[in-house]
Amino acid sequence: MKNTFVIDNPMVVDRLTLLRMKETGTRKFRSIVKEISAFLAYEAAKELPMREVTIETPLCETTQKRLDVRDIAVVPILRAGIGMAGGFEEVYPDAVVLPIGIERDEKTKEPTEYYCKIPENISRYHCVIVDPMLATGGSIIYTIKLLMEAGARTPVVACILAAPEGIERVHAAFPDVHIYCCAVDSHLDDNKYIVPGLGDAGDRIFGTL
Ligand code: PRP
Ligand code: URA
Repeated sequence: MKNTFVIDNPMVVDRLTLLRMKETGTRKFRSIVKEISAFLAYEAAKELPMREVTIETPLCETTQKRLDVRDIAVVPILRAGIGMAGGFEEVYPDAVVLPIGIERDEKTKEPTEYYCKIPENISRYHCVIVDPMLATGGSIIYTIKLLMEAGARTPVVACILAAPEGIERVHAAFPDVHIYCCAVDSHLDDNKYIVPGLGDAGDRIFGTL
């Protein structure tokens, strides 16, 4: 799939299997989500701008590259995205964090917004949207629209699991958005849950089962 990057590192595949297992409890689930998110943050860092700096090694002066880490905005979609934010903050410690409150309506499955505070200088940031689940794609599309209408550049998306239907829908609306994920699963069920999936990510992260 174009503009979709699956992290198939065995460490990630192994942790993802633990996340999928229904007997994995909240404490372990949370810590694995954070660990996997750090992997995603490293992968998504391929997109980050770099600047040239002149430094001195013990041997000579040389021009090398550094990341512009101050210009990253991590955008977790509440509430499950909060579970991923910690892993991203460890890898991008100077990033700003801009949570966006979006909840999928239980009946219609459409996203509804309940919190949004995007700074006026959003265009300076390289935005990375984080949410464990990209199911129908509605929540991600809504978030991309909010960011871009506020003046953001095309963001990157990082999720743990994605459904093919959701990826297609995001790319139909925003073909240039790069999606990083740990697996693309089979399909959505009648309830628009990802199959085989891992269940309700928010409930498993927050222990509200
Ligand atoms: C889940 C998930 C995504 C969304 C994915 O959140 O974390 O945000 O559903 O579904 P979509 O791709 O079909 O929009 P949910 O709305 O259940 O809220 P929560 O994080 O508060 O549990
Ligand atoms: N939200 C979840 O938490 N899980 C899914 O499978 C789909 C949406």
